[in-house]
Amino acid sequence: SRQNRVRNFSIIAHIDHGKSTLADRLIEETGLLTEREMKEQILDNMDLERERGITIKLQTTRLVYKAKDGNEYILNLIDTPGHVDFNYEVSRSLAACEGALLVVDAAQGIEAQTLANVYLALDQDLEIIPVINKIDLPSARPEEIKKEIEDVIGLDCSDIPLISAKEGINIEDVLESIVQKIPAPKGDSGAPLKALIFDSFYDSYKGVTAYIRVVEGTIKPGMKIKMMATDKEFEVSEVGIFTPSQVPVDELRAGDVGYVTASIKNVRDARVGDTITEADRPANKPLPGYKKVTPMVYCGVYPAEGEDFNNVKDALEKLQVNDAALTFEPETSAALGFGFRCGFLGLLHMEIIQERLEREFDLNIITTAPSVIYKIKKKDGEIINIQNPTNLPPLTEIEYMEEPIVESSIMAPKEYVGPIMELCQARRGTLKNMEYLDQTRVVLHYDLPLNEVIYDFFDALKSKTKGFASLDYELKGYERSDLVKLDILINKEVVDAFSIIVHREKAYERGRSIAEKLKETIPRHLFAIPIQAAIGSKIVARETVKALRKDVLAKCYGGDVSRKKKLLQKQKEGKKRMRQLGNVEVPQEAFLSVLKFD
Ligand code: GTP
Repeated sequence: SRQNRVRNFSIIAHIDHGKSTLADRLIEETGLLTEREMKEQILDNMDLERERGITIKLQTTRLVYKAKDGNEYILNLIDTPGHVDFNYEVSRSLAACEGALLVVDAAQGIEAQTLANVYLALDQDLEIIPVINKIDLPSARPEEIKKEIEDVIGLDCSDIPLISAKEGINIEDVLESIVQKIPAPKGDSGAPLKALIFDSFYDSYKGVTAYIRVVEGTIKPGMKIKMMATDKEFEVSEVGIFTPSQVPVDELRAGDVGYVTASIKNVRDARVGDTITEADRPANKPLPGYKKVTPMVYCGVYPAEGEDFNNVKDALEKLQVNDAALTFEPETSAALGFGFRCGFLGLLHMEIIQERLEREFDLNIITTAPSVIYKIKKKDGEIINIQNPTNLPPLTEIEYMEEPIVESSIMAPKEYVGPIMELCQARRGTLKNMEYLDQTRVVLHYDLPLNEVIYDFFDALKSKTKGFASLDYELKGYERSDLVKLDILINKEVVDAFSIIVHREKAYERGRSIAEKLKETIPRHLFAIPIQAAIGSKIVARETVKALRKDVLAKCYGGDVSRKKKLLQKQKEGKKRMRQLGNVEVPQEAFLSVLKFD
């Protein structure tokens, strides 16, 4: 049957190990596309990428491969996003497959993200096919890496494909392994419909396109469908396959991968992980593993110019239509006026959204320090969640506070164990265990407070290990912690946008570092500006921006006019990016500088 000739698989890899390059090669090798078509399609994808904001690079694609056994196989390559913020999406994409190619760089070997992805794939009971890539590199050591994969992951590497995706070496081995080792999908095309949504995106013409794997039953245009998590019903307008451009087909049957459109207006109604069933003949239970994604990190987003408020709102609404994980609600800040509190999956997600607001919507925005969600047990027994430090009740009303903790794994060459431990110690980490992967590399398992991880932990880790360490983490739970609110006062006024929640033992150090940075970024005024960090009424750090002595223009008098003009122009441009706080002008960059540790 046709189902026997289908193979559904993903490619998993650490960043830069060659996932996209291999995907391109597989497309090319299966001869589905000429090089010119491929270029065009890749351009298409880049548009889409811009629209979606997350680097997807490779796309879900259907390949047709004529195998050595003489049969033609349909290979559905399912894309997975490659970042820890999007682990849930990765897990749903993997759930749509029967197998996965594990690409390992012949020079780098196994890294933390590789292992994290392998565990996700093993959770889904996938057949994992290891592939060693970049054998063309002079520094390649395929034999050692083979042994590493066998020792660390326990996969058989006796007939592992040794390839160069870049040079196109041994690509056929990979295709043959897919056909021979990955099981064909099972599932009854006559059963009640169960289709897994593993990705979705919105465009203004078709509405939401949901990427689906049909697990049981058949889906076709005209069918009334129901989303099992939200109970919403729609009528299918189109089903199709990816080549990778969308090509409509008559129906998708059990085992198939493709897309469905049904005039769905928001990705929230076609959530990743949800099960689509037939409204008139529903399945009795949804596919396992659905989870509603919830933000982990929050920050305030404010227009740099107050009149942009509605533009920021419009932009966030537009982004949200396509991003079920993004949340926002209006909030006000005494310092920054009207803005929004936004929720994100993680820091990368936050950076992507910030960048899109600035680049695609041409907005000038100020973001406040990121915060996690703290749980506060009040003395009156009430438990509240706080994601904006400004809303923290007075200390006298608080019985205790809890903060989110993540389980992290950090992988690195053993000579960096010292610096890594120092860093984790400084970030209040608890060492859970340390394993040697082989003679040269270790994995450290640390429990770390999420609020320490979101302050450029990853950058610090990279710089302490010359870029060799890799990091992976997931939320473990909440733990009690001695936390305080640290306020920043500029010219004696608390600036709420700078307030953060920190561990008591860190408050002094953080306060001093923020005060120092603000001193560097706030320009001199005609008066001296004290900058203070305080816990409650107790000042823990203090700096002063000294008063300006002379008029800036004074030194130009008598000088040439053009220079004077230039200076005025410069001041004006500088002004545009200033925020008036009381009678102090604070440059936009000051808000950013607070987010960075040294
Ligand atoms: P992300 O999308 O960032 O996760 O990276 P990726 O895993 O998709 O890696 P990508 O395919 O973008 O390759 C990363 C780099 O490695 C690129 O500069 C490629 O040209 C290079 N590369 C990929 N395959 C090979 C190979 O077989 N040999 C060599 N020498 N370089 C390769």
